Amino acid sequence: MSNSLFRRKSIDKIVHDVDLPADDIHSHGLKRVLTVKDLTFFGIAAIIGAGSFSSLGGAVFNGGPGVVILFVITGIACAFTAFCYSEFASRIPVAGSAYTYAYASFGELFAWIIGWALIMEYSIGNIYVAFSWSDYFTSFLHKTNIHIPDYLTCSYIEAKKAVAEGSSNLELSGAWNSAPKIGGMRMIFDLPAIIINLLITYLVYRGIKESRNFSNVMVILKLAIVGLVVLVGGYLVFSNGLTFNWMPSNEEGIRSFMPNGFSGVMMAVSGVFFAYIGFDAVSVLAEESKNPQRDLPRGMILSLVICTIVYILLTLVLTGAVHYKKFDGIGDPLAFIFEKENLNIGWMQILVSIVAVVAMTSVLLVFQMGQPRIWMSMSRDGLMPPVFQKIHSKFKTPSFATIVTGLVVGIPILFTDKTFVLDFTSIATLFAFVLVCGGVLLIPRKEKVAGQFSLPYINGQFIFPLIIAGVFILFVLLGKGYLADMVNFDFSANEDYINGKSSFMDLATPKISLIIFWIICILLSILTVIKKYSLIPLMGVVTCLYLLTGMTKSNWVWFMSWLILGVIIYFAYGYKKSKLAPPVV
Ligand code: ALA
Repeated sequence: MSNSLFRRKSIDKIVHDVDLPADDIHSHGLKRVLTVKDLTFFGIAAIIGAGSFSSLGGAVFNGGPGVVILFVITGIACAFTAFCYSEFASRIPVAGSAYTYAYASFGELFAWIIGWALIMEYSIGNIYVAFSWSDYFTSFLHKTNIHIPDYLTCSYIEAKKAVAEGSSNLELSGAWNSAPKIGGMRMIFDLPAIIINLLITYLVYRGIKESRNFSNVMVILKLAIVGLVVLVGGYLVFSNGLTFNWMPSNEEGIRSFMPNGFSGVMMAVSGVFFAYIGFDAVSVLAEESKNPQRDLPRGMILSLVICTIVYILLTLVLTGAVHYKKFDGIGDPLAFIFEKENLNIGWMQILVSIVAVVAMTSVLLVFQMGQPRIWMSMSRDGLMPPVFQKIHSKFKTPSFATIVTGLVVGIPILFTDKTFVLDFTSIATLFAFVLVCGGVLLIPRKEKVAGQFSLPYINGQFIFPLIIAGVFILFVLLGKGYLADMVNFDFSANEDYINGKSSFMDLATPKISLIIFWIICILLSILTVIKKYSLIPLMGVVTCLYLLTGMTKSNWVWFMSWLILGVIIYFAYGYKKSKLAPPVV
């Protein structure tokens, strides 16, 4: 027992505490029913959703066809991270995911911080998905001539912003002008988003088996439709001779795969990364899978590989079918490419809308299942009240934690908007990924056990510094003025700065992030030469850190505030109530 902020739980103790016999129901009452196929399906269910059906439009608008490169970079970063999750999941097959892994590697304070950051991924991310779900659902209803009043299909903030900025979006301004008022307050809220959250909460409350069956059907459906989009769209790109869209001209009239340069591509980081979030959710199901040490890693990596291929193909089809500039403000890009003025296939438009609703339902389901299980683990460690461990006697699900999750997703639907939750989710999840990869560097290497996943050890002592040096030289050679741009903080010639659209800190944040990134790379290289760190987790750390350099100032401000709030709560509750805290005398 210790008072230290970095008090750690040993891996043996974590596994022993949860009691992991191979029978169907272990002492905590969760059922062991999931196979590698189920876990892969869960991964895909969590990954392909609002990111591909909704935020892909904005990403492509910013970066053009070159967003494919960002999908590749992000896919690689996620693959390294998936290997690290797999290593942890095979050693610590319990439900807490990254939270539990941090407990074993960095100690309690970091574990709490990760658990706190994961609320962003699991709950706040679901707010974005619920909003996107509602967008597709209402547009589908429109096509079938059913109309819900505009003020019940958008968020208050979106409508207010649209009116204040004189947006041309008639639905949002219509919502603002037609909304009934109660006590002077306009009643504008996203009713379908709230209803889907209620339904999902109920389903998760009812139990894992029902949820699994529902999820598997949805995954098959969405893979089929995404495949159809790729086949039909891809065929038309070639047969209509549209391949020139892959080299569109930018505002200066220059044709390029990256019309807004690499910085334009990096502006799409939040959206692209959001599309990948979900493979890690598989690890939360450790206590419900039949053979977690073998199957969790397989499920995670398989689902990631399948989704990476899907994303690359989808982005190529989208940017081939339509000029990238036309995706401005398009929230349903997969249906949009089949509209009359584009590829003009009406039935595909309707089909995609229906399946988008299905796809996003499965994402909601997986994350809504993940959050209570993480809280359950935190509660077992004493960092959250004991009631979060309560398992429903009949349904065998963490009932109280499930209801709280429903509220944490449902209530902010009334007060937030899409962009805010997208950025917030991506930055917090990337942060958690960096810590998971870093954590693998800290735990002792283990002997290979037959039938269990084991992260291959590649000594990074010389390779890692060479890779860092090589990539740096490549950036300097390929990006004209890369170095000079990074250290130039004189914005007096910048139009946004002159017009007051961007402050000094808005413009300085990406540069400061990049400088910090390279300093960390140098420090890690020196440490690796001394400590012979393993290459795969090292690459996970640096690739995720690189993606973090694409985040804006406001993302950082909100995220840091969230972390500070978390630390205050930890000291007020968890630090004293932790199972590792010394007994009060
Ligand atoms: N990757 C998930 C989605 O795109 C979160 O909806």
